[in-house]
Amino acid sequence: WPVFAPYIHAINRLKKERGAVILAHNYQTPEIFHCVSDIVGDSLQLAREAGTVDAEIIVQCGVHFMAETSKLLNPDKTVLIPDLKAGCSLSESITGADVRRLKAANPGVPVVTYVNTSADVKAETDICCTSSNALAIVESLEEDTVLCIPDEYLAMNIARQTSKKILTWKGHCEVHERFTADELLAYKQTDPNIQIIGHPECHPDVIAVCDFSGSTSGMINYVKEERPQKVLLVTECSMASNVEAETPGVEFVKPCNLCPHMKRITLPKILDSLVFMKDEVTIDPLIADRARLAVERMVNLGK
Ligand code: 13P
Ligand code: SF4
Repeated sequence: WPVFAPYIHAINRLKKERGAVILAHNYQTPEIFHCVSDIVGDSLQLAREAGTVDAEIIVQCGVHFMAETSKLLNPDKTVLIPDLKAGCSLSESITGADVRRLKAANPGVPVVTYVNTSADVKAETDICCTSSNALAIVESLEEDTVLCIPDEYLAMNIARQTSKKILTWKGHCEVHERFTADELLAYKQTDPNIQIIGHPECHPDVIAVCDFSGSTSGMINYVKEERPQKVLLVTECSMASNVEAETPGVEFVKPCNLCPHMKRITLPKILDSLVFMKDEVTIDPLIADRARLAVERMVNLGK
């Protein structure tokens, strides 16, 4: 990758000089994921790691809600995001005012909020969850009815695995909602040996035809451990490229969909971020104190 080399070199040098740490989500492009990141992972791993990093500066290579989560857990550190516009369709599907209305309409029902939300929404929440712990979080609650928001499909996928009544919201991931069961079945018909593994943000009909479903890191671990001959990852495009580099011998079929928000993060923007110390993520302290509780409850549950 000669075109990336000067950026990789400059970022790694400046990162050391500044004492910064780079956290990257599994959907970051291979040159970011493999060449400049210090810590990679799914949303839960990044949230856990954000709470323990030593560095004074965190550069979050992912979308805005991930940087906000890091800031919530590190209020005294500088958290930078290389592009402030890196959003998320799930996060944009719901506001704090929506959650207040939902709570008023469902008194006494605990609110489990997917981490893919703004701090404003988290502040109205009892406990957060990610795709890797959603079922455990729901099961940890005493109540028989749970509001699981804002991802309708994640909620429907959880509902299939619990006896609790799950209420939800109409939010969707614009990347995962595009996959269809028919499309995947066509791959199975062409090659019955293909392993299909999907992210729980997909519609339950899609998950029903998958051989395995899990968080982004859950999917990566599955491929690393099972070493299928041929695999199709029903998720964002960069995942397959990132795992492919680490699993020689596994053939990846790639009918992937791109996340335009994740793709806003690029090497030149990461370099700019370190040179100019931008863009800093800030959260209104009144919101942050309440939102932090919901994230901390989630992080502490697995301890
Ligand atoms: P994970 O927590 O599985 O990494 O999912 C985050 C995400 O944004 C998936 O679209
Ligand atoms: Fe949000 Fe979907 Fe992109 Fe993940 S892949 S950041 S859920 S839009």
